[in-house]
Amino acid sequence: MDATDARELARGFQLVRAPADFIDDPYPYYAALREHDPVHELEGGGAFLSRYEDALAVYRDPRASSDKKEEFRPKLGDSPLYEHHTTSLVFNDPPLHTRVRRIIMGALNQRAIARMEADVVRLVDVLLGKMAAKREFDFIDEFAANIPIEVIGNLLDVPRSDRGPLRGWSVAILSGLEPKLTPAMHEAGNRAVSEFVAYLKELIAARRKKPGDYESDVLTRLIQGEKDGERLSEKELLHQCIFMLNAGHETTTNLIGNGMWLLLTHPEELARLRADPALVPSAVEEMLRYEGPIQLNNRRLTAPMALGGRTLPAGTFITIGIGAANRDPAQFPDPARFDAGRKPNRHLAFGQGDHACAGMNVARMEGRVAFGRLLTRFASIELAGEPLRDRRIRFRGFRRLPVRVK
Ligand code: HEM
Repeated sequence: MDATDARELARGFQLVRAPADFIDDPYPYYAALREHDPVHELEGGGAFLSRYEDALAVYRDPRASSDKKEEFRPKLGDSPLYEHHTTSLVFNDPPLHTRVRRIIMGALNQRAIARMEADVVRLVDVLLGKMAAKREFDFIDEFAANIPIEVIGNLLDVPRSDRGPLRGWSVAILSGLEPKLTPAMHEAGNRAVSEFVAYLKELIAARRKKPGDYESDVLTRLIQGEKDGERLSEKELLHQCIFMLNAGHETTTNLIGNGMWLLLTHPEELARLRADPALVPSAVEEMLRYEGPIQLNNRRLTAPMALGGRTLPAGTFITIGIGAANRDPAQFPDPARFDAGRKPNRHLAFGQGDHACAGMNVARMEGRVAFGRLLTRFASIELAGEPLRDRRIRFRGFRRLPVRVK
């Protein structure tokens, strides 16, 4: 693409009218924006950031608020989806954010993660056994989606027999965050929140009667609050539970699915990993950088802020292009190369700053165990059909990834 075409591409870009080929390959658009319009105006007065440096500056700046009430009210109305997304910690500023984050983080320390790892190893080995018997299967359904549901289900101690609807609820609720929301998506999201709340009310009542271990059970922690702090209200409690169950779920499914697809389409890197399994942790980081499960984050400026040579006024709604920042040549040499051994790799797949992903080390552990054991178990893994991409913009992943193993 020459410079004039790239400039045109950047100038005409709108997330709410993303071009047909954007979802399959957003990277030429991101490159054009980074080069020609790094603080790109979106319809309605928002700004889309595509450079690493600008993304990082916003993540770290106290003027960048995560409170989404102003943005979601016109979009979601007075609805269950609105209540959910505006109550969860990720879309709040202090004090609610700080309070909830502290409670959650206490159950996600290295000791807790080491305990979870033993369960993940056991589960992954069972899944690999089933996959070996089938030989040809959908990698998302048979493998990628099963690992996070186990981990996050255990973290809140949701009975196994109740976990069936969680994936569908999660997809429907998170779809409510797409830049363009159809009435069908809105309706499905509202229904999912209502059903999820009804389910959790029962689970919480049971847990109140019979509390779990405060050190490891996130639901018990959220119910009891900090030892000498204020408790969460019922509404706050319900929506943090929904958020936790969603946050750790589809994202990690997509890390594993996208990572598999990257290895299948970069056979030289797959061979490199097989020859040197010590590279698995850096390969997982590279999967996160190269095809991150979350492509966009948002903030609203509470005061003017200078970015890319302009001053954006207070009130500006900012979209951080995580996927664009993660391919910025100013930060990552040869950014279009998928390099399983890349170091350093300070990608933004987990965000940064006060809201940086609370479960990043859980997700990393899941990725490490999944790929480590998968590659040891099968001498050959290949695509067995056309993958089906999820057609959303904020979340990047596959609905179906047919593979064959030997
Ligand atoms: C590969 C998998 C994952 C990715 C790519 C991911 C990505 C992210 C990102 C980008 C944010 C920041 C949002 C913002 O700043 O607006 C975030 C927040 C969060 N994530 Fe994750 N996440 C993943 C897995 C998990 C897991 C496994 C858990 C739980 C065990 C989790 C729990 C959370 C929580 C609680 C927050 C909110 C933190 C806060 O607002 O302070 N995530 N995640």
